[in-house]
Amino acid sequence: MSTLAGKELILGVTGSIAAYKAVLLVRELTRAGARVTVCLTEHAERFVTALTFRTLSGRAVLTDLFDPQSDEAVEHVALGERAAALIVAPATANLIAKAAHGIADDFLTTVLLAARGPVLIAPAMDGGMWDHAAVQANVATLRQRGVAVLEPDTGPLASGLSGKGRLPEVDVILESLHSLLTPVRDLAGERVLVTAGPTREPIDPVRYITNRSSGKMGYRLAAAAQRRGATVTLVSGPTAIAPPPGVVVVPVESAEEMREAVLQHLRGTTIVIKAAAVADYRAKTPAATKIKGKRDLTLELTPNPDILAEVAAQRTGAFVVGFAAETDDVAKNAQAKLEAKGIELLVANDVSRAGIGFDADDNEVLLIDRWGGAEPLPRMSKGEVADAILSRVLALRKRAAQPVTR
Ligand code: PMT
Repeated sequence: MSTLAGKELILGVTGSIAAYKAVLLVRELTRAGARVTVCLTEHAERFVTALTFRTLSGRAVLTDLFDPQSDEAVEHVALGERAAALIVAPATANLIAKAAHGIADDFLTTVLLAARGPVLIAPAMDGGMWDHAAVQANVATLRQRGVAVLEPDTGPLASGLSGKGRLPEVDVILESLHSLLTPVRDLAGERVLVTAGPTREPIDPVRYITNRSSGKMGYRLAAAAQRRGATVTLVSGPTAIAPPPGVVVVPVESAEEMREAVLQHLRGTTIVIKAAAVADYRAKTPAATKIKGKRDLTLELTPNPDILAEVAAQRTGAFVVGFAAETDDVAKNAQAKLEAKGIELLVANDVSRAGIGFDADDNEVLLIDRWGGAEPLPRMSKGEVADAILSRVLALRKRAAQPVTR
């Protein structure tokens, strides 16, 4: 059962173009069994209607502190006190400033002062605004006070510019909410090394070979392991995802850089999880200057080192988990990969299917282990898949440690 089942939550929505994504968030929260009261600021109502949220949450939407028709309006203190958590997504620079300074001039900011449970703020604004010293000072004030303020994502912004300011993905907000509400620390004392994202293999100074990995699967694994108490290092190829709070991120580009970083951080690691989509090949001799166009070009490729197999061969005592990106004969190919790489657990996904695998928010995986176990998991969010993998690792390790009784 989801940790959100039956939880009373307040979701504050402020006036940002990203307000439409709050609709998806309400859908996911209610799907997980949470009871969500949505609170819209006056400016949020210009982007999304209260009706949409009322329909999805099945509850009255709070907008006006002085609405004489609304019982909740006079109950803002009780509402704040009863909520298991208060989430603001998207949160504008204006809301963040008001929250940092204790200003309570509308329903949402008043409930923020009344809230007794954890508060999670997911910012969305233009990149220049996020970087402004005033915004950064307000964010620091809130964090010092124990408010969880997520880092915005990087990418195209509503202004037409590109930068850091996008609302973090719904899955990331959910993951952070879980970590605020779930005090499970079953990975305390573990040192987890996760790889994520694609690698880039240069052809010349301006071009490279890569693949469709977004890094979502690996980042969810790192965040879930950190939430469950592990010390986590995330070796990441290039992605647009904000680093999970509390995780040490080691950015790399090529497979060779990834290999070096993984081997460097292997000592003392108890669990290695290789979710990265490492390019199997690289250009044998990348050109030193830009290759000119308008002629046929033959690229000579050479295989990259198999990092996973190398890690397993080192027999450091770490529990090694690999992934298999397959497009056909998933179970058969995955079994062969498990044996060829000499690892403990393999997570196989069919990357030819829409809605799962590369760059999707969900995944559907088959877990096969060296002790002969095979467990297909239904389609679920990558955050949930991450938790299921980590639980499986703990269960398998415990079982492997027990003496065999005949
Ligand atoms: O990043 P997302 O968009 O969220 O997508 C998730 C994912 C599809 C990338 C992920 O679920 C996944 O399947 N990751 C493994 C991708 C892959 O490279 O699979 P593979 O079957 O080619 O490799 C098998 C394993 O060996 C992987 O653990 C891989 O990290 C590792 N490997 C592969 C090649 C190589 N040279 N070195 C390696 O360590």
